[in-house]
Amino acid sequence: MSKHKSIPICSKASPEEMAADLKSLVDFQDEGLTLLALNRMVEKQLIPHLMQYDQPGFQSMFNAYPEEGAKYGATVALYFNQGVTNWQVSPGGVMLEELCCKAICKLFGFSPDADATFMASGTYGNQEALYLALHKQAEKEGFDLAEKGLKGFKDPSRLIVLTSKDAHFSVKHAARMLGLGEECLRFLPVDSNRRISVHKMKEIIMKLQKSKDIFCVFITAGTTSTGSVDPILPIAEICEEIGAWLHVDGAYGFAYRLVLEWNYLFEGAELADSLCWNPHKQLGIPIPNSLLFVKRWEDFGRMTVYSDYFNRREDSEPNPGLKSPPSTRPFSALSLVTSLRYQGITKVIERLRAPLVAIKMFYERLKKEDDIEICHQPDLGILCFRIVPDGYPEKELDNLQRYVYDSIMAERERTISLTKLDDKIVLRVVAIDPVVTTKALMETISRVKALAKEYKK
Ligand SMILES: Cc1ncc(COP(=O)(O)O)c(C=O)c1O
Repeated sequence: MSKHKSIPICSKASPEEMAADLKSLVDFQDEGLTLLALNRMVEKQLIPHLMQYDQPGFQSMFNAYPEEGAKYGATVALYFNQGVTNWQVSPGGVMLEELCCKAICKLFGFSPDADATFMASGTYGNQEALYLALHKQAEKEGFDLAEKGLKGFKDPSRLIVLTSKDAHFSVKHAARMLGLGEECLRFLPVDSNRRISVHKMKEIIMKLQKSKDIFCVFITAGTTSTGSVDPILPIAEICEEIGAWLHVDGAYGFAYRLVLEWNYLFEGAELADSLCWNPHKQLGIPIPNSLLFVKRWEDFGRMTVYSDYFNRREDSEPNPGLKSPPSTRPFSALSLVTSLRYQGITKVIERLRAPLVAIKMFYERLKKEDDIEICHQPDLGILCFRIVPDGYPEKELDNLQRYVYDSIMAERERTISLTKLDDKIVLRVVAIDPVVTTKALMETISRVKALAKEYKK
Protein backbone atom coordinates (compact mmCIF):
# COMPACT_ATOMS: atom_id res chain seq x y z
CA MET A 1 0.00 0.00 0.00
CA SER A 2 1.57 3.26 -1.03
CA LYS A 3 1.19 6.26 1.22
CA HIS A 4 1.09 9.56 -0.59
CA LYS A 5 3.61 11.51 1.42
CA SER A 6 3.88 14.50 -0.87
CA ILE A 7 1.83 17.62 -0.40
CA PRO A 8 -1.16 18.09 -0.59
CA ILE A 9 -2.04 16.43 2.68
CA CYS A 10 -5.28 15.24 1.04
CA SER A 11 -6.74 15.77 -2.44
CA LYS A 12 -8.39 19.10 -3.12
CA ALA A 13 -11.47 17.45 -4.61
CA SER A 14 -14.89 18.90 -3.83
CA PRO A 15 -17.52 16.48 -2.43
CA GLU A 16 -18.99 16.22 -5.96
CA GLU A 17 -15.62 15.45 -7.57
CA MET A 18 -14.88 12.91 -4.88
CA ALA A 19 -18.23 11.17 -5.34
CA ALA A 20 -17.52 10.97 -9.09
CA ASP A 21 -14.12 9.37 -8.41
CA LEU A 22 -15.49 6.84 -5.97
CA LYS A 23 -18.70 5.93 -7.76
CA SER A 24 -17.32 3.00 -9.74
CA LEU A 25 -16.02 1.38 -6.54
CA VAL A 26 -19.58 0.81 -5.36
CA ASP A 27 -20.86 -0.36 -8.71
CA PHE A 28 -21.59 -3.86 -7.39
CA GLN A 29 -21.40 -6.36 -10.27
CA ASP A 30 -22.35 -10.00 -10.68
CA GLU A 31 -18.76 -10.86 -11.55
CA GLY A 32 -15.89 -10.20 -9.15
CA LEU A 33 -12.60 -8.37 -9.79
CA THR A 34 -9.09 -9.66 -9.32
CA LEU A 35 -7.29 -8.37 -6.25
CA LEU A 36 -4.83 -6.64 -8.59
CA ALA A 37 -7.64 -4.76 -10.34
CA LEU A 38 -9.16 -3.84 -6.99
CA ASN A 39 -5.83 -2.63 -5.73
CA ARG A 40 -5.43 -0.37 -8.77
CA MET A 41 -8.88 1.11 -8.25
CA VAL A 42 -8.35 1.75 -4.56
CA GLU A 43 -4.88 3.27 -5.12
CA LYS A 44 -6.10 5.55 -7.88
CA GLN A 45 -9.59 6.47 -6.79
CA LEU A 46 -9.66 6.31 -3.01
CA ILE A 47 -6.24 6.77 -1.46
CA PRO A 48 -5.58 10.30 -2.78
CA HIS A 49 -8.73 11.40 -0.96
CA LEU A 50 -7.64 9.99 2.40
CA MET A 51 -6.06 12.27 5.00
CA GLN A 52 -2.31 11.80 5.59
CA TYR A 53 -2.03 11.85 9.37
CA ASP A 54 1.74 11.52 9.56
CA GLN A 55 2.62 14.86 8.00
CA PRO A 56 3.88 17.80 10.09
CA GLY A 57 1.06 19.86 8.60
CA PHE A 58 -1.67 17.66 10.09
CA GLN A 59 -2.55 19.89 13.02
CA SER A 60 -6.29 19.59 13.40
CA MET A 61 -7.56 16.33 14.84
CA PHE A 62 -6.69 13.46 17.17
CA ASN A 63 -6.03 10.89 14.44
CA ALA A 64 -2.74 9.06 13.91
CA TYR A 65 -1.28 6.47 11.55
CA PRO A 66 -0.71 3.07 13.14
CA GLU A 67 2.50 2.71 15.09
CA GLU A 68 4.66 -0.19 13.75
CA GLY A 69 4.17 -2.58 16.68
CA ALA A 70 0.44 -1.80 16.73
CA LYS A 71 0.24 -2.49 13.01
CA TYR A 72 1.72 -5.93 13.55
CA GLY A 73 -0.84 -6.79 16.25
CA ALA A 74 -3.68 -5.42 14.15
CA THR A 75 -2.57 -7.57 11.22
CA VAL A 76 -2.61 -10.73 13.35
CA ALA A 77 -6.02 -9.77 14.79
CA LEU A 78 -7.32 -9.18 11.27
CA TYR A 79 -5.93 -12.46 9.98
CA PHE A 80 -7.62 -14.51 12.68
CA ASN A 81 -10.64 -12.19 12.95
CA GLN A 82 -11.26 -13.11 16.56
CA GLY A 83 -14.34 -11.98 18.44
CA VAL A 84 -13.29 -11.53 22.05
CA THR A 85 -16.36 -11.20 24.20
CA ASN A 86 -16.58 -14.83 25.09
CA TRP A 87 -14.39 -17.80 25.96
CA GLN A 88 -16.16 -19.99 23.40
CA VAL A 89 -15.24 -17.73 20.46
CA SER A 90 -11.64 -16.97 21.47
CA PRO A 91 -10.05 -18.33 24.64
CA GLY A 92 -6.69 -16.73 23.79
CA GLY A 93 -8.26 -13.44 22.77
CA VAL A 94 -10.35 -13.31 25.94
CA MET A 95 -7.43 -14.13 28.21
CA LEU A 96 -5.09 -11.64 26.55
CA GLU A 97 -7.72 -8.90 26.78
CA GLU A 98 -8.33 -9.61 30.47
CA LEU A 99 -4.60 -9.62 31.25
CA CYS A 100 -4.08 -6.48 29.18
CA CYS A 101 -6.85 -4.61 31.03
CA LYS A 102 -5.31 -5.46 34.38
CA ALA A 103 -1.80 -4.54 33.20
CA ILE A 104 -3.01 -1.18 31.84
CA CYS A 105 -4.76 -0.44 35.15
CA LYS A 106 -1.42 -1.06 36.88
CA LEU A 107 0.50 1.07 34.35
CA PHE A 108 -1.75 4.02 35.13
CA GLY A 109 -1.53 3.52 38.89
CA PHE A 110 -5.07 2.31 39.54
CA SER A 111 -5.71 0.11 42.57
CA PRO A 112 -5.62 -3.71 42.23
CA ASP A 113 -9.45 -3.65 42.54
CA ALA A 114 -9.78 -1.62 39.32
CA ASP A 115 -10.70 -3.19 36.01
CA ALA A 116 -11.21 -2.13 32.40
CA THR A 117 -12.89 -3.21 29.21
CA PHE A 118 -12.32 -2.39 25.54
CA MET A 119 -15.01 -0.29 23.90
CA ALA A 120 -15.81 0.73 20.34
CA SER A 121 -15.24 4.41 21.13
CA GLY A 122 -14.99 7.05 23.82
CA THR A 123 -18.60 7.95 23.15
CA TYR A 124 -19.77 4.49 24.20
CA GLY A 125 -17.39 4.48 27.17
CA ASN A 126 -18.92 7.73 28.39
CA GLN A 127 -22.40 6.38 27.88
CA GLU A 128 -21.71 3.19 29.80
CA ALA A 129 -20.17 5.22 32.63
CA LEU A 130 -23.31 7.33 32.90
CA TYR A 131 -25.42 4.18 32.99
CA LEU A 132 -23.30 2.75 35.82
CA ALA A 133 -23.69 6.01 37.73
CA LEU A 134 -27.44 5.97 37.26
CA HIS A 135 -27.60 2.34 38.33
CA LYS A 136 -25.78 3.20 41.54
CA GLN A 137 -28.27 6.03 42.18
CA ALA A 138 -31.15 3.58 41.67
CA GLU A 139 -29.57 1.24 44.21
CA LYS A 140 -29.52 4.13 46.69
CA GLU A 141 -33.22 4.57 46.05
CA GLY A 142 -33.70 0.85 46.66
CA PHE A 143 -34.43 -0.59 43.22
CA ASP A 144 -32.68 -2.26 40.27
CA LEU A 145 -32.37 0.08 37.28
CA ALA A 146 -31.77 -2.85 34.93
CA GLU A 147 -35.23 -4.17 35.81
CA LYS A 148 -37.35 -1.09 36.35
CA GLY A 149 -35.71 1.55 34.19
CA LEU A 150 -36.25 5.26 34.79
CA LYS A 151 -39.77 4.72 36.05
CA GLY A 152 -38.27 3.28 39.22
CA PHE A 153 -37.16 6.76 40.31
CA LYS A 154 -39.68 8.61 42.47
CA ASP A 155 -39.03 11.76 40.50
CA PRO A 156 -36.68 11.34 37.48
CA SER A 157 -36.72 15.11 36.91
CA ARG A 158 -34.54 15.44 40.04
CA LEU A 159 -31.66 13.53 38.39
CA ILE A 160 -28.77 15.80 37.49
CA VAL A 161 -25.33 15.36 35.90
CA LEU A 162 -22.80 18.12 36.47
CA THR A 163 -20.35 18.64 33.64
CA SER A 164 -18.21 21.35 32.10
CA LYS A 165 -19.46 23.69 29.43
CA ASP A 166 -16.43 22.42 27.46
CA ALA A 167 -17.24 18.70 27.84
CA HIS A 168 -17.35 16.61 24.66
CA PHE A 169 -20.78 16.38 23.05
CA SER A 170 -20.84 12.63 23.74
CA VAL A 171 -22.19 13.52 27.20
CA LYS A 172 -25.30 14.82 25.43
CA HIS A 173 -25.61 11.59 23.48
CA ALA A 174 -25.28 9.64 26.72
CA ALA A 175 -28.03 11.69 28.40
CA ARG A 176 -30.29 11.21 25.39
CA MET A 177 -29.64 7.48 25.00
CA LEU A 178 -30.34 6.82 28.67
CA GLY A 179 -33.70 8.52 28.38
CA LEU A 180 -32.71 11.29 30.78
CA GLY A 181 -32.67 13.94 28.08
CA GLU A 182 -30.22 16.80 27.82
CA GLU A 183 -32.20 18.66 30.49
CA CYS A 184 -30.42 16.54 33.11
CA LEU A 185 -27.11 18.21 32.24
CA ARG A 186 -25.90 21.25 34.15
CA PHE A 187 -22.93 22.88 32.46
CA LEU A 188 -20.40 24.28 34.89
CA PRO A 189 -18.45 27.46 34.17
CA VAL A 190 -14.73 27.26 33.42
CA ASP A 191 -11.78 29.38 34.54
CA SER A 192 -9.39 31.33 32.30
CA ASN A 193 -7.61 28.07 31.35
CA ARG A 194 -10.94 26.47 30.60
CA ARG A 195 -10.86 24.06 33.51
CA ILE A 196 -13.97 23.62 35.68
CA SER A 197 -13.97 26.32 38.35
CA VAL A 198 -14.12 24.33 41.61
CA HIS A 199 -15.18 27.35 43.58
CA LYS A 200 -18.16 28.05 41.28
CA MET A 201 -18.95 24.35 41.20
CA LYS A 202 -19.33 24.34 44.98
CA GLU A 203 -21.73 27.30 44.82
CA ILE A 204 -23.82 25.58 42.16
CA ILE A 205 -23.97 22.37 44.18
CA MET A 206 -25.18 24.31 47.23
CA LYS A 207 -28.00 25.79 45.17
CA LEU A 208 -28.97 22.52 43.48
CA GLN A 209 -28.79 20.16 46.41
CA LYS A 210 -32.22 20.89 47.88
CA SER A 211 -34.23 20.33 44.74
CA LYS A 212 -32.05 17.95 42.70
CA ASP A 213 -30.11 14.68 42.99
CA ILE A 214 -26.62 15.06 41.54
CA PHE A 215 -25.92 11.44 40.74
CA CYS A 216 -22.90 11.97 38.50
CA VAL A 217 -20.12 14.49 37.95
CA PHE A 218 -18.68 14.10 34.46
CA ILE A 219 -15.35 15.88 34.09
CA THR A 220 -12.69 15.91 31.38
CA ALA A 221 -8.98 15.19 31.48
CA GLY A 222 -8.07 16.90 28.21
CA THR A 223 -11.00 18.75 26.71
CA THR A 224 -11.55 18.47 22.98
CA SER A 225 -11.32 22.18 22.24
CA THR A 226 -8.41 23.25 24.42
CA GLY A 227 -6.94 20.10 26.01
CA SER A 228 -7.69 21.47 29.47
CA VAL A 229 -7.60 19.07 32.40
CA ASP A 230 -10.31 19.68 34.99
CA PRO A 231 -9.01 19.61 38.59
CA ILE A 232 -9.60 15.93 39.31
CA LEU A 233 -8.52 15.66 42.96
CA PRO A 234 -10.62 18.50 44.44
CA ILE A 235 -13.61 17.38 42.37
CA ALA A 236 -13.14 13.77 43.54
CA GLU A 237 -13.27 15.05 47.12
CA ILE A 238 -16.51 16.93 46.42
CA CYS A 239 -18.03 13.82 44.82
CA GLU A 240 -17.11 11.79 47.90
CA GLU A 241 -18.85 14.38 50.09
CA ILE A 242 -22.06 14.57 48.06
CA GLY A 243 -22.14 10.87 47.16
CA ALA A 244 -21.98 11.42 43.39
CA TRP A 245 -20.32 9.10 40.88
CA LEU A 246 -17.21 10.68 39.35
CA HIS A 247 -16.56 9.95 35.69
CA VAL A 248 -13.42 11.27 34.02
CA ASP A 249 -13.51 11.58 30.24
CA GLY A 250 -9.85 11.08 29.40
CA ALA A 251 -10.55 9.96 25.82
CA TYR A 252 -7.95 12.37 24.49
CA GLY A 253 -5.84 13.38 27.46
CA PHE A 254 -5.39 10.47 29.83
CA ALA A 255 -2.39 8.97 28.01
CA TYR A 256 -0.35 11.98 29.15
CA ARG A 257 -0.57 10.79 32.73
CA LEU A 258 2.41 8.63 31.80
CA VAL A 259 4.60 11.67 31.09
CA LEU A 260 6.31 12.61 34.34
CA GLU A 261 6.29 16.40 33.92
CA TRP A 262 2.55 16.37 33.11
CA ASN A 263 1.57 13.71 35.62
CA TYR A 264 0.53 16.25 38.29
CA LEU A 265 -2.43 17.32 36.14
CA PHE A 266 -3.99 13.89 36.63
CA GLU A 267 -3.65 13.73 40.39
CA GLY A 268 -6.71 12.00 41.83
CA ALA A 269 -7.60 10.06 38.65
CA GLU A 270 -7.36 6.82 40.61
CA LEU A 271 -10.24 8.09 42.79
CA ALA A 272 -12.63 8.34 39.84
CA ASP A 273 -15.42 5.75 39.77
CA SER A 274 -14.93 5.42 36.02
CA LEU A 275 -12.64 6.82 33.37
CA CYS A 276 -12.41 6.43 29.62
CA TRP A 277 -9.33 6.63 27.40
CA ASN A 278 -8.79 6.19 23.65
CA PRO A 279 -5.45 4.60 22.71
CA HIS A 280 -6.60 5.12 19.09
CA LYS A 281 -5.83 8.80 19.47
CA GLN A 282 -2.22 9.78 20.21
CA LEU A 283 -0.81 6.27 20.65
CA GLY A 284 -1.39 5.35 17.02
CA ILE A 285 -3.29 2.14 17.83
CA PRO A 286 -5.68 1.31 14.96
CA ILE A 287 -9.28 2.44 15.37
CA PRO A 288 -11.28 1.27 17.29
CA ASN A 289 -9.26 1.22 20.47
CA SER A 290 -10.91 2.65 23.52
CA LEU A 291 -10.98 1.60 27.16
CA LEU A 292 -13.41 2.13 30.01
CA PHE A 293 -11.93 1.77 33.50
CA VAL A 294 -13.86 1.29 36.73
CA LYS A 295 -12.46 1.74 40.23
CA ARG A 296 -14.05 -1.47 41.53
CA TRP A 297 -14.10 -4.45 39.15
CA GLU A 298 -17.49 -5.52 40.49
CA ASP A 299 -19.04 -2.31 39.12
CA PHE A 300 -19.06 -3.99 35.71
CA GLY A 301 -21.52 -6.47 37.21
CA ARG A 302 -24.20 -3.84 36.59
CA MET A 303 -23.73 -4.44 32.85
CA THR A 304 -24.14 -8.20 32.98
CA VAL A 305 -26.80 -9.86 30.86
CA TYR A 306 -26.66 -13.66 30.79
CA SER A 307 -27.93 -15.72 27.90
CA ASP A 308 -28.60 -19.37 27.25
CA TYR A 309 -26.17 -19.98 24.41
CA PHE A 310 -23.21 -18.01 25.68
CA ASN A 311 -22.38 -15.71 28.59
CA ARG A 312 -24.13 -18.38 30.65
CA ARG A 313 -24.49 -17.81 34.36
CA GLU A 314 -22.80 -21.12 35.10
CA ASP A 315 -19.70 -20.49 32.91
CA SER A 316 -16.55 -20.38 35.00
CA GLU A 317 -14.17 -18.97 32.37
CA PRO A 318 -13.70 -15.20 31.92
CA ASN A 319 -16.23 -13.56 29.59
CA PRO A 320 -15.34 -9.91 28.91
CA GLY A 321 -18.64 -9.64 27.05
CA LEU A 322 -20.35 -9.32 30.43
CA LYS A 323 -18.78 -5.88 30.93
CA SER A 324 -20.42 -4.04 28.03
CA PRO A 325 -23.32 -4.53 25.59
CA PRO A 326 -21.74 -5.89 22.34
CA SER A 327 -21.67 -9.65 21.92
CA THR A 328 -19.08 -9.26 19.14
CA ARG A 329 -16.08 -6.96 19.40
CA PRO A 330 -12.71 -6.75 17.61
CA PHE A 331 -9.55 -8.04 19.24
CA SER A 332 -8.39 -4.49 20.05
CA ALA A 333 -6.23 -5.51 22.98
CA LEU A 334 -3.70 -7.23 20.72
CA SER A 335 -2.57 -4.11 18.85
CA LEU A 336 -2.23 -2.18 22.12
CA VAL A 337 -0.18 -5.02 23.63
CA THR A 338 2.13 -5.40 20.63
CA SER A 339 2.61 -1.64 20.36
CA LEU A 340 3.62 -1.26 24.01
CA ARG A 341 5.88 -4.31 23.88
CA TYR A 342 7.51 -3.32 20.58
CA GLN A 343 8.35 0.22 21.63
CA GLY A 344 8.86 -0.27 25.36
CA ILE A 345 7.33 2.19 27.80
CA THR A 346 10.32 4.56 27.61
CA LYS A 347 9.78 5.13 23.88
CA VAL A 348 6.01 5.37 24.33
CA ILE A 349 6.53 8.15 26.84
CA GLU A 350 8.96 9.93 24.49
CA ARG A 351 6.33 9.73 21.76
CA LEU A 352 3.75 11.23 24.11
CA ARG A 353 6.05 13.96 25.45
CA ALA A 354 7.13 15.34 22.05
CA PRO A 355 3.83 17.02 21.03
CA LEU A 356 3.34 18.41 24.56
CA VAL A 357 6.76 20.05 24.42
CA ALA A 358 6.07 21.32 20.87
CA ILE A 359 2.85 23.03 21.97
CA LYS A 360 4.46 24.44 25.12
CA MET A 361 7.28 26.02 23.11
CA PHE A 362 4.81 27.19 20.49
CA TYR A 363 2.84 28.92 23.24
CA GLU A 364 6.01 30.66 24.48
CA ARG A 365 6.76 31.84 20.93
CA LEU A 366 3.20 33.08 20.34
CA LYS A 367 3.28 35.16 23.52
CA LYS A 368 5.77 37.40 21.70
CA GLU A 369 3.54 37.90 18.64
CA ASP A 370 1.54 41.14 18.93
CA ASP A 371 -1.14 40.14 16.44
CA ILE A 372 -1.92 36.78 18.05
CA GLU A 373 -4.36 36.55 20.94
CA ILE A 374 -3.81 33.33 22.92
CA CYS A 375 -7.04 31.94 24.33
CA HIS A 376 -5.68 29.77 27.18
CA GLN A 377 -2.51 28.40 28.69
CA PRO A 378 -2.10 24.90 27.21
CA ASP A 379 -2.33 21.95 29.58
CA LEU A 380 -1.64 19.38 26.84
CA GLY A 381 -1.08 19.30 23.07
CA ILE A 382 -3.71 21.79 21.89
CA LEU A 383 -3.66 25.57 21.59
CA CYS A 384 -6.45 27.94 20.57
CA PHE A 385 -5.68 31.45 19.40
CA ARG A 386 -6.98 34.29 17.24
CA ILE A 387 -5.25 36.40 14.67
CA VAL A 388 -5.97 40.01 15.66
CA PRO A 389 -4.23 42.47 13.31
CA ASP A 390 -3.60 45.86 14.85
CA GLY A 391 -6.64 48.15 14.69
CA TYR A 392 -8.92 45.47 13.29
CA PRO A 393 -12.63 45.98 14.14
CA GLU A 394 -13.71 43.51 16.85
CA LYS A 395 -16.94 42.68 15.07
CA GLU A 396 -15.01 41.43 12.01
CA LEU A 397 -12.65 39.17 13.92
CA ASP A 398 -14.87 36.08 13.79
CA ASN A 399 -15.15 36.36 10.02
CA LEU A 400 -11.39 36.78 9.75
CA GLN A 401 -10.76 33.54 11.67
CA ARG A 402 -13.29 31.75 9.46
CA TYR A 403 -11.60 33.08 6.32
CA VAL A 404 -8.16 31.94 7.50
CA TYR A 405 -9.50 28.52 8.42
CA ASP A 406 -11.36 28.03 5.12
CA SER A 407 -8.32 29.15 3.11
CA ILE A 408 -5.91 26.84 4.93
CA MET A 409 -8.22 23.89 4.53
CA ALA A 410 -8.70 24.64 0.83
CA GLU A 411 -4.92 24.83 0.24
CA ARG A 412 -4.54 21.30 1.66
CA GLU A 413 -0.92 21.85 2.68
CA ARG A 414 -1.81 21.74 6.34
CA THR A 415 -4.94 21.31 8.44
CA ILE A 416 -6.02 23.30 11.47
CA SER A 417 -9.41 23.53 13.13
CA LEU A 418 -11.95 26.13 14.06
CA THR A 419 -13.93 26.14 17.26
CA LYS A 420 -15.92 28.46 19.48
CA LEU A 421 -14.90 29.48 22.98
CA ASP A 422 -17.72 31.34 24.70
CA ASP A 423 -18.88 33.76 22.04
CA LYS A 424 -15.66 33.91 20.00
CA ILE A 425 -14.62 31.95 16.92
CA VAL A 426 -11.03 30.80 17.40
CA LEU A 427 -8.37 28.86 15.51
CA ARG A 428 -7.10 25.65 17.07
CA VAL A 429 -3.98 23.58 16.46
CA VAL A 430 -3.35 20.08 17.76
CA ALA A 431 -0.08 18.18 18.02
CA ILE A 432 -0.65 14.44 18.24
CA ASP A 433 2.27 12.96 16.32
CA PRO A 434 5.90 13.81 17.16
CA VAL A 435 6.31 15.07 13.56
CA VAL A 436 4.26 18.12 14.57
CA THR A 437 7.14 20.24 15.86
CA THR A 438 7.22 23.85 17.07
CA LYS A 439 8.74 24.74 13.69
CA ALA A 440 5.80 23.15 11.85
CA LEU A 441 3.37 25.00 14.12
CA MET A 442 5.18 28.32 13.52
CA GLU A 443 4.93 27.73 9.76
CA THR A 444 1.18 27.56 10.26
CA ILE A 445 1.32 30.92 12.04
CA SER A 446 3.22 32.47 9.10
CA ARG A 447 0.50 31.23 6.78
CA VAL A 448 -2.24 32.49 9.12
CA LYS A 449 -0.65 35.95 9.11
CA ALA A 450 -0.24 36.03 5.33
CA LEU A 451 -3.87 35.03 4.80
CA ALA A 452 -5.09 37.59 7.33
CA LYS A 453 -3.35 40.29 5.26
CA GLU A 454 -5.18 39.09 2.14
CA TYR A 455 -8.62 39.19 3.74
CA LYS A 456 -10.87 42.00 2.56
CA LYS A 457 -13.08 43.32 5.35
C1 LIG B 1 -12.70 14.50 25.30
C2 LIG B 1 -13.36 13.56 24.34
N1 LIG B 1 -14.29 12.70 24.78
C3 LIG B 1 -14.92 11.83 23.99
C4 LIG B 1 -14.61 11.77 22.65
C5 LIG B 1 -15.35 10.81 21.79
O1 LIG B 1 -14.51 9.73 21.49
P1 LIG B 1 -14.83 8.84 20.19
O2 LIG B 1 -14.56 9.72 19.02
O3 LIG B 1 -13.90 7.68 20.31
O4 LIG B 1 -16.25 8.45 20.27
C6 LIG B 1 -13.65 12.65 22.13
C7 LIG B 1 -13.34 12.63 20.70
O5 LIG B 1 -12.51 13.33 20.21
C8 LIG B 1 -13.02 13.57 22.98
O6 LIG B 1 -12.13 14.45 22.54
